[in-house]
Amino acid sequence: MKPSAATARAGANIALVKYWGKRDPVLNLPAAGSLSLTLDQLETTTTVVPDETLSADTLALNGQAADVSRVSAVLDRFRRQSGHAVFCRVESNNNFPTGAGLASSASAFAALVAAADSAFATRLDDRALSEQARLGSGSAARSIFGGFVEMAVGTRPDGSDAVARPLLSAEAWPLEVVVAVVDEASKAVSSTKGMNQTQATSPYYPAWLGQVPEDLQAARSAIAARDFEALARVGEGSALAMHASALAARPGLIYWRPATLALIDAVRDLQSAGVAAFFTIDAGPQVKVVCLPEAGQRVAAALSAIDGVQRLIHCRLGPGVRVLG
Ligand code: PMV
Repeated sequence: MKPSAATARAGANIALVKYWGKRDPVLNLPAAGSLSLTLDQLETTTTVVPDETLSADTLALNGQAADVSRVSAVLDRFRRQSGHAVFCRVESNNNFPTGAGLASSASAFAALVAAADSAFATRLDDRALSEQARLGSGSAARSIFGGFVEMAVGTRPDGSDAVARPLLSAEAWPLEVVVAVVDEASKAVSSTKGMNQTQATSPYYPAWLGQVPEDLQAARSAIAARDFEALARVGEGSALAMHASALAARPGLIYWRPATLALIDAVRDLQSAGVAAFFTIDAGPQVKVVCLPEAGQRVAAALSAIDGVQRLIHCRLGPGVRVLG
């Protein structure tokens, strides 16, 4: 079958047990497992258009020409697998700030592999799509699935078992996530650079790595039991431990802004008042607050009152990647 245009959409995800460090930079294999929530409001929509007249792939990201090399590396595998050597025009649009610690690469590569799979008719199953997405960006492997998702560290040298799997559907425990955006500009140090620097120079990195299996176990149990307090403990613990390892890198990586700390304080105040909410922070200054649905409005009101908060994005848990046509 001749390759033909296809569009796919994927939601970003936020890790509760973070991925921070690689065991193989070429295959993009994680040094440890991770566990995340897929969100319904931070989405990437990507169209892959195979075009015989092109002499190279092109990428338009939010309407602007962008570096196509990581996208081409993904498309090369679909070209090889399908036997069709055609170049593609790729158009990718985020409905949220790109590269600001809102996991845009996760939704981007998940949407890209699903669109490419459909365009080249390679018919990969979700596990294989997760592996392909991982080769683009580690966290993207998780955005193939909806709801609660666990990424396996894997043991095979070829990386075929370093893939994500769904743990629990969005409907089975409908948590909400309020994202407080404090800085919409792109971050100074990318996740890949930040984790490599941490891994290479932070004396706390081995301790971080050693803690992950226990955190994964605690998070799995909390999710199975719908135990929000236990999930809050492990979620905040993993985020702070990741940042502690990054802070101790040489030179230290400081992703936070004053508003980031003010938001942490606000969440602690909410917790003291008995509100079911906890925070997590990725490689950027934004704070993501996970809460029970009944706490959503109160959390949003408290966060919007903090100086330096540019806007809030109120999310529910969302579905996995889907092909739109
Ligand atoms: O997928 P990457 O390479 O952008 O790394 C993601 C790293 C964190 O967002 C900080 C943590 C995570 O597990 O998503």
